Amino acid sequence: MREKLEAIKESALKELREAESKAALDNIRVKYLGKKGELTQILRGMGGLSAEERPIVGKVANEVREALESFIEEASSNIKNREKELKLKKEIIDISMPGKKQVLGSRHPLSLTLESIQDIFLSMGFSIVEGPEVELDYYNFEALNIPKNHPARGEQDTFYINDNIVLRTQTSPLQIRTMEKQKPPIKVIAPGKVYRSDAVDASHSPIFYQMEGLVVDKGITFADLKGTLDLFAKRMFGEKVVTKFRPHHFPFTEPSAEMDATCFLCQGEGCKLCKGSGWIELLGCGMVHPQVLRNCGIDPEIYSGFAFGFGIDRMVMLKYGIDDIRLLYESDVRFLNQF
Ligand code: DAH
Repeated sequence: MREKLEAIKESALKELREAESKAALDNIRVKYLGKKGELTQILRGMGGLSAEERPIVGKVANEVREALESFIEEASSNIKNREKELKLKKEIIDISMPGKKQVLGSRHPLSLTLESIQDIFLSMGFSIVEGPEVELDYYNFEALNIPKNHPARGEQDTFYINDNIVLRTQTSPLQIRTMEKQKPPIKVIAPGKVYRSDAVDASHSPIFYQMEGLVVDKGITFADLKGTLDLFAKRMFGEKVVTKFRPHHFPFTEPSAEMDATCFLCQGEGCKLCKGSGWIELLGCGMVHPQVLRNCGIDPEIYSGFAFGFGIDRMVMLKYGIDDIRLLYESDVRFLNQF
């Protein structure tokens, strides 16, 4: 009996040493230790042994079983390690291979410029307001002192949705919307998209950006307007910039003006950018018209204010020396990559 057990052990160990996969191990386990396994059969047949023989054979049989079990465990962890090594070898990464280039976008020059303009006004204590691009005729024109048939309507080719609704042609309606909601002191800027049904060329686009500014309080004068806008021009285009104010007409301001700045390219000498004049037109401005204040329920005897408005696209083009507004809307990466 003992020899038989030893023989079983030997042949099992030999098979275990040759086993190369988990499946092979499982087969060996079943063959020897399973319900109908060779070793199990022997243990079952122990009933037929004599009382002296039984404990001796039982002991040997148990030793054989334990030996087999620990061998199987060892073989199984060897196989696992070998499989892992093989996998690592197969999945080796070639770190000398060049990586895939990630194409990262960049900020649009309009966003960059808008942000720096906003920073300038925020640092002067302005806050930012926004309004709808689809606007009532009342806010875009009427309340700004531009009644139907007023010649100023002809200057702004308007997209009409119907008789009372337009795509806003300017950010000036934010003056009215702000004064209706907020009592003075008011100190806001209002950036956003505006629309005009202009034919597209190097300096016209049916969509462009404007920024409105509005300050209303007791005792606001033209000196406040000049100081604020002169500081803006210097922060935006350089400390050496000099500004001048030319009389102009806007229906919603009185008096009205346009502000020019000395050309920051030639410092006023005259160059291609300023078309030889030394000056660059920057924005429209003026003291808020008393009727506009009244339209918003603000008493012009107590309060006064100034307003200004300019095209952000124009500021971008001046700042970066871009001579065609279409570049700002064509999404050509060769252009946008430069910023
Ligand atoms: N809204 C005017 C335009 O689109 C620009 C403008 C001029 C705005 C004078 C103002 C201002 O607030 O005071 O041409």
